[in-house]
Amino acid sequence: MKALVIYDSLYGNTEKVARALASGMREGGIDVECVRANTVDVGTLRAYDMIVIGGPTHSMGLSDTMKTFTKQLKEAAVKNKQAFAFDTKYDSRFAGSAGKKIEQRMKQNGMKVVVPHASAIVLGKEGPLKEGTEAQFKQIGTELARSALAS
Ligand SMILES: Cc1cc2nc3c(=O)[nH]c(=O)nc-3n(C[C@H](O)[C@H](O)[C@H](O)COP(=O)(O)O)c2cc1C
Repeated sequence: MKALVIYDSLYGNTEKVARALASGMREGGIDVECVRANTVDVGTLRAYDMIVIGGPTHSMGLSDTMKTFTKQLKEAAVKNKQAFAFDTKYDSRFAGSAGKKIEQRMKQNGMKVVVPHASAIVLGKEGPLKEGTEAQFKQIGTELARSALAS
């Protein structure tokens, strides 16, 4: 199974989470590549069985880069592909969640969400990530691979 992890990241925190997730997925037996959203040609998505998308939460929702990227999913051949969304955000009830919005867009485009979206907590605008987050997302990646390979 081939998966692509697509991320946006202003200060590097979401990138760290994306790489941890990808490493866990790889351990779980999936062939994974990890790329920045603004470098992805959506025409290439057809080559993957699973698409993982994550971004930082901006103004309770998507960053501008992720808004632009997720709009392009409409033209991409992503229907029925396995999917998972994640974000980085503050640990607050009022933080909002980019991952939730990404997951909505995935479903609108007919993608099959394997596991509900997950959030990684940042302690400030520029980070750092809450202690243990990379280990946590590596574990999530391994479990995600297991669920994807089983379905
Ligand atoms: C313009 C802007 C708006 C933000 N708005 C929110 C927000 O509404 N909720 C939140 O939890 N974090 C917000 N943040 C903080 C981001 O969650 C944080 O910068 C991000 O998780 C860091 O990830 P990155 O290093 O990958 O960019 C905002 C950050 C920026 C730069």
